[in-house]
Amino acid sequence: MKLIYSLLSVTLLTACTVPALQSNNQPAEEKGAMTPPDAIKHDPAHPPIDCPLRKQGIDPGKLKPFEQMEAYINFLDQESRKVWQKPQEVVAAMQLKGHERVLDLGAGSGYFSFPIAEKLPLGRLFAADVEPEMVRHIHHKVMAQGIKNIEVLLIDPEKPKLPENIDLVFICDVLHHVKNPKDWLTGITAQLPIGAQIHIIEFKPGDLPNGPPESVKMAPEKLIEIAQSCGLRLEKRLDELLPYQNYYVFKK
Ligand SMILES: C[S@@+](CC[C@H](N)C(=O)[O-])C[C@H]1O[C@@H](n2cnc3c(N)ncnc32)[C@H](O)[C@@H]1O
Repeated sequence: MKLIYSLLSVTLLTACTVPALQSNNQPAEEKGAMTPPDAIKHDPAHPPIDCPLRKQGIDPGKLKPFEQMEAYINFLDQESRKVWQKPQEVVAAMQLKGHERVLDLGAGSGYFSFPIAEKLPLGRLFAADVEPEMVRHIHHKVMAQGIKNIEVLLIDPEKPKLPENIDLVFICDVLHHVKNPKDWLTGITAQLPIGAQIHIIEFKPGDLPNGPPESVKMAPEKLIEIAQSCGLRLEKRLDELLPYQNYYVFKK
């Protein structure tokens, strides 16, 4: 596993570094940089898939080594999570028709982004996170797998800017990370069209084998109260779908 991630790390850095060479109008010799091989020369008719971090002014070359994110990514993607996270059942519960524009907000490793995108042959999945390394990780997977309907976004932790015309925002295990959930949800709701849905999954209160410490969990009543104060209507609650988490569906 370590070897695979070491190789991935090199590939990731390359994937995110290539556009720097391409977007640099000065000859490579002037910068003392390596001349890019023919395969990565810029063709204006077919622009490269640029690293989403660069568009936001972050130099991907200055990110933490990929190995440092390995533990968190492995934790999120661990095989045993399937037993209680039931990703296929969760995606089925979203009742997607296939043409929607879905935002996976706080996408992490993309645990849900990829299976959701599979259900959107005519739609688009936006995978957004506040961690540049997560954005880089998903971006690389998207490129490596040649996936056409996933776009990756680096967002602000307090005031995320949403893509236009989102039909559904999916937020799994993120709300307890947010500093001011009311302001955060208010800002998100304001950017959605009427009729858009927000699906939230958060850990149930109580001593459970998985989940964050009790001190950071939000009581279901509190979560619903906050969402309603942001102009959202509770459409349904799926309390039995998952053993350790509640699933709330809100509508604007
Ligand atoms: C526990 S992980 C969940 C990841 C993914 N949703 C899943 O279920 O596998 C929480 C994620 O939320 C992200 N996050 C933390 N604060 C955030 C914020 N204010 N806005 C958006 N994402 C945030 C973290 O970077 C992390 O990737």
